Amino acid sequence: MNFAINHIRSQFPILHQQVNGKPLIYFDNAATSQKPLAVINAIKEYYEQYNSNIHRGAHHLAQLATEKYEEARKIVASHINADEREINFVRGTTEAVNLVATAYGRKFIKTGDEIIVSEMEHHSNIVPWQMLCEEKDAVLRVIPITDSGELIYEEYLKLLTEKTKIVSVAHTSNALGTIHPIKEMIAAAHKVGAVVFIDGAQALPHTKVDVKDLDCDFLGFSGHKVFAGTGIGVLYGKEKLLEAMNPYMGGGEMIKTVSFKGTTYNDLPYKFEAGTPHIEGGISLGAAINYINEVGLDSITAYEHKLLEYGTQQLSTIEGLQIIGTAKNKSSVISFLVNNIHPYDIGVLLNEQGIAIRTGHHCCQPLMDRFGIEGTCRASFAFYNTKEEIDGFVTALRRVVAVLS
Ligand code: ALA
Repeated sequence: MNFAINHIRSQFPILHQQVNGKPLIYFDNAATSQKPLAVINAIKEYYEQYNSNIHRGAHHLAQLATEKYEEARKIVASHINADEREINFVRGTTEAVNLVATAYGRKFIKTGDEIIVSEMEHHSNIVPWQMLCEEKDAVLRVIPITDSGELIYEEYLKLLTEKTKIVSVAHTSNALGTIHPIKEMIAAAHKVGAVVFIDGAQALPHTKVDVKDLDCDFLGFSGHKVFAGTGIGVLYGKEKLLEAMNPYMGGGEMIKTVSFKGTTYNDLPYKFEAGTPHIEGGISLGAAINYINEVGLDSITAYEHKLLEYGTQQLSTIEGLQIIGTAKNKSSVISFLVNNIHPYDIGVLLNEQGIAIRTGHHCCQPLMDRFGIEGTCRASFAFYNTKEEIDGFVTALRRVVAVLS
């Protein structure tokens, strides 16, 4: 495959360091991704050349900062095939879910209504809905999963009724890597009149997501997982839904006029952006999206799939290793356990060899309960990882297992 991996790696300065005397192997990309020079330089330039508040000042720096921030919004909009008015900058996927649960849920959910999530969701796609259900006396329904970590589609269809008002599912599981058939799920939800929120946090770094093609009503994702800075994310919503919703937070920027007789709200997308935003975060997100499009998302998806296949095959040669999540359609995430060894012990000993993975429940306690386990070890690859790193990881893991067995 023609993938300029050496050049790509040269764009990520953090990768070229030793940890505990060994070359860093960073396999914790599902937790957060590393940043290319394009992103680092965009943040640096912002502070060195035009740091200023946006949408407020008549002066040169304020105009430049506003232009760059709004340009980033355009980049995001075009990347997911949305209109700029439908792109709300938020802190991350968690805030996107909370915004919809609050600003849509509080207005439109009534006693006895039903909201569907899956057993595989991240806590951030469970707890805001539980809070809404408690407040509104609504009911949370849960799509069960198979032993291989796939949603049981027939069970999902059975849960859909005229009572269903919201379906909220991840595009791709953070813990197992399963890619769900969301286009079909969205169409099925629309047949009963429900709106659909897609948690795109683990999808956007790896694949193209087109909101018009999917016909999702809302999509949330996090900048830091998609090679931009932390504390910035996106809530996409269909314009007519965003228009119908109440604001989420009150403050500056989200208003048109304020008086003690009453306040009128700003137009989209500013209606949902109270307060001074994360300006350099938004700019970094624009830079990150431009960068992955330069590399080519289709090539990224194909390259990472090879890493997934190779990693799965190599890990399977370790005696006693069990992969948790063996869905047919997966992104580059491998969750595993080895014999009865505690995942944390594996994580600590791998770290001693310069290897970063995540261990624990991955913010998916209901999923862990489904498998009757406390947690897993999770290796998650990005497009700057290599087969050689997988070899180093598997060799190190073999040593760790020998020590801990
Ligand atoms: N949601 C992130 C993860 O899966 C933090 O690690």
